[in-house]
Amino acid sequence: MLYVTADLHFDHGAGGRRAVEALAAELASIGTPDDVLVFNGDLGNSDATVRACLACFRDFPGTRLGVAGNHDIWVDPGESSWDRYRRLTDLFTDARVHPLEEEPVVIGGVGYAGSMGWYDYSFRDDIGVPYEAYVEKALPSEGVAWGDLRYAHWGMSDEAFTEWQLVRLEGHLGALASVPEVRVFTHHVATKRLLVHPRAMVPKPWRFLNAFLGSDQFATLIGRFPNVTDVINGHIHRNGEVRLGPTRYASLASGKSTRQLLTIDGRTLSRREAIG
Ligand SMILES: [Fe+2]
Ligand SMILES: [Fe+2]
Repeated sequence: MLYVTADLHFDHGAGGRRAVEALAAELASIGTPDDVLVFNGDLGNSDATVRACLACFRDFPGTRLGVAGNHDIWVDPGESSWDRYRRLTDLFTDARVHPLEEEPVVIGGVGYAGSMGWYDYSFRDDIGVPYEAYVEKALPSEGVAWGDLRYAHWGMSDEAFTEWQLVRLEGHLGALASVPEVRVFTHHVATKRLLVHPRAMVPKPWRFLNAFLGSDQFATLIGRFPNVTDVINGHIHRNGEVRLGPTRYASLASGKSTRQLLTIDGRTLSRREAIG
């Protein structure tokens, strides 16, 4: 059995924290040594909350895998997100969670690969907003700015960081090419098909911010590997499921005081909520 969580956000209120604790208690009781549990990013805004969040799941008896989310690399101005990204790998390792972005794994004959993903503005809509506004991650005329503007600092453009992620994931998928079934976990969204459609229904400020949710380049890359059966993302806190060729793309939907558990049993995907 595969269990997937995302957006546990252990520092986003008492209700959310209780939901995480309820989810962890349930997984400790239903999990078996053959099961896999994935943390698909956004555990907490600080090292301390990531550590506390992971500690809740210490009694899960199966294999645990972890992928970063953007909140897991947020830092104060003047600090580097690369440093926190490296520290997250250590936090995962200390908690006996395999850092999937460092190395893919094969468990029970199934391959697992992961990438935080990122965005290159390929999700942007034609809404009359200049390219520079996306680079600046702010649209003052609509009074909105994306949180990574303040807290994510890579020292390179979003496009360059996206490319770095793609190259690394491509290597991992190549290493798994002979494995018959592979599951991929991307915190950000791998295909724009998972956003709200029709796009005209989405208010302009949100259509601007949607450019920061992911990149279609991930689905394009994954599409070259027909052994990938499932791609699961977090980040948008919204349920979704689409099929592109042989691959199912599914999105998790943790809420303010709920945390979703996605389960894949064979080819059957199901969801349930832990409530705080
Ligand atoms: Fe999130
Ligand atoms: Fe996120």
